Amino acid sequence: MSRKFKLRPSPSEIEEITIGGTRMIDRRDFIRHSFNSAAGVIAAASLGSIGFASLLMGTADSAGGDAAVRFWVPSGAEDTAWYGNLHLEPMTKSVFEAEAANSSTGMAGAAGVWSGLPVTVIYVPHEENDGTAAVENKPRFQFGDGYDQSGAYIGYGGDMQEDATYADLAIHNNMIIVFSRCPHLCCIPGWQLVPNDFTADTWYPGGTDSGGNKLFCICHSSRYDPTMIEKNQNRNRTNGTMFEYFGIKLTGGPAPVGMPLIPFEVNGGVIEALPTYIDWYTFCD
Ligand code: FES
Repeated sequence: MSRKFKLRPSPSEIEEITIGGTRMIDRRDFIRHSFNSAAGVIAAASLGSIGFASLLMGTADSAGGDAAVRFWVPSGAEDTAWYGNLHLEPMTKSVFEAEAANSSTGMAGAAGVWSGLPVTVIYVPHEENDGTAAVENKPRFQFGDGYDQSGAYIGYGGDMQEDATYADLAIHNNMIIVFSRCPHLCCIPGWQLVPNDFTADTWYPGGTDSGGNKLFCICHSSRYDPTMIEKNQNRNRTNGTMFEYFGIKLTGGPAPVGMPLIPFEVNGGVIEALPTYIDWYTFCD
């Protein structure tokens, strides 16, 4: 029997999310991203003719317009998630810094939406801890080797820091943004929304499956370490071609690989994502 999850109830199938006079996405579009079943089958139709390109409407905007990443409060998490009262508010760096101060690791994360795409923003005290010994509960971003499902070597995550081609991805502002669709069967992994060892506020170095603060996919328990950056590859669901990307490492569970990064800027304090690598977000319909 299939069991369905959704991020948030839909008061109307066609209710639009309009911010600053700009239509970002309607509820039906978002639910198409968000419905999942325990069997891993996307319960709603694919995006079809809507397509990713038409959803990625974000453009740089100093006023924090539709490039802004906004909090998305999953259904039922209004009273438990630290950002429970911030649904659809623009994400700011200062809000993450304040929440990180409440954490034993100095990390903070939150679900968000950017031009209709589900994302997770993760704050890591990288600048404070980088250059010191990598010990328990002193998190920083790390870079490692990526391997595909067959074990073939794909590439090194640190190239993202060195290659000017990817300059907009280089670690900055102690944060990353992850395109939050699980490469297993396309559910939406969350940040500390369910309590278990993988979501506890702990950190161990090395990108292992130990320690908490993983992005955890509730559907079949895939885990991702948001502090370990690797280069890997995935398949474009529409045309079948393989593409390489930089993203966070899969540490356990049935997913084949990790999830890709989304570049961003902090503009007037507001976190604004950039549509540079649209092809990286095509592994789900
Ligand atoms: S969809 Fe199966 S583990 Fe995420």
